[in-house]
Amino acid sequence: MTDTLTDIVRVGVVGCGQMGAGIAEVAARSGLEVMVAETTGEALEIGRTRLHNSLSKAAERGKITEEERDATLDRLSFTTDLGEFADRDLVIEAVVENEQVKTEIFQVLDQVVTRQDAILASNTSSIPLVKLAVATSRPDQVIGIHFFNPAPVQKLVELIPALTTSEDTVLRAEAVVQGVLGKHAIRAQDRSGFVVNALLIPYLLAAVRMYESGIASREDIDNGMELGCAHPMGPLKLADLIGLDTVASVADSMYAEYKEPLYAASPLLQRMVDAGRLGRKTGAGFYAYPAA
Ligand SMILES: NC(=O)c1ccc[n+]([C@@H]2O[C@H](COP(=O)([O-])OP(=O)(O)OC[C@H]3O[C@@H](n4cnc5c(N)ncnc54)[C@H](O)[C@@H]3O)[C@@H](O)[C@H]2O)c1
Repeated sequence: MTDTLTDIVRVGVVGCGQMGAGIAEVAARSGLEVMVAETTGEALEIGRTRLHNSLSKAAERGKITEEERDATLDRLSFTTDLGEFADRDLVIEAVVENEQVKTEIFQVLDQVVTRQDAILASNTSSIPLVKLAVATSRPDQVIGIHFFNPAPVQKLVELIPALTTSEDTVLRAEAVVQGVLGKHAIRAQDRSGFVVNALLIPYLLAAVRMYESGIASREDIDNGMELGCAHPMGPLKLADLIGLDTVASVADSMYAEYKEPLYAASPLLQRMVDAGRLGRKTGAGFYAYPAA
């Protein structure tokens, strides 16, 4: 195991949205060399700015020194060409929660990543890992590495081996996540929702239904759980933070898997997604988020 801890040096992150940027930051702050890929130059610029701002904030708050911020930035590179991931030891995909898009990315990664025992990971919240694994010619090396939002802050990572994933891949992923990235890893089977979302999503959906049926105001629902149960954030604020499209698509995947009504997204949630009110990332969700 000793050399497996150190033989992952070059990391690729696909997607530089909320999660991809956070994962890239965690990996670069841990001393890894990180390349981030996005679809277009414009998306890449947005992602780069997001990462720079987050690192500058961390430095302002004294969480890292200015030297550490600059050294972290030096370890980050950006591209719109997945072909540049040829020399990566570990790739973590963090694009939109869409099975078709993710499958195509895994097919491309399988073609371009030259290292035979490279780990190909997905940050998916709900798509069966086995579907991404069998899209490649190396299904034993595909695994779910599921970070939590915001990735630089949250300590937990879920490791989800597909039916096809080798124990060696799981152990190497665990060594990086715990030994290098400093996160706490828990393992879950490849079942929709894994551990945390299987418990969290029905709770968020219940809060949306409660708001929709007029039982209480959004503030009272959130205050209820913050002040009554000591949750750091009420469920509607948390749904806005996660992104309502992500909440709805995770719920849809869990509903498709289990056919349980408690996993069904309510009409209001669907309409908000259709309206593009996705939460903090679009400036409006259950609450308004005026641009800073
Ligand atoms: N938001 C959360 O709280 C959370 C938590 C854990 C896991 N996740 C999972 O992480 C993944 C990303 O979620 P997010 O919240 O960061 O979404 P997001 O919408 O903020 O970011 C997605 C990014 O992917 C990019 N993208 C789309 N197609 C791409 C492609 N072909 N190549 C490269 N980039 C591409 C988009 O341009 C966008 O920047 C999803 O699978 C989601 O389920 C989200």
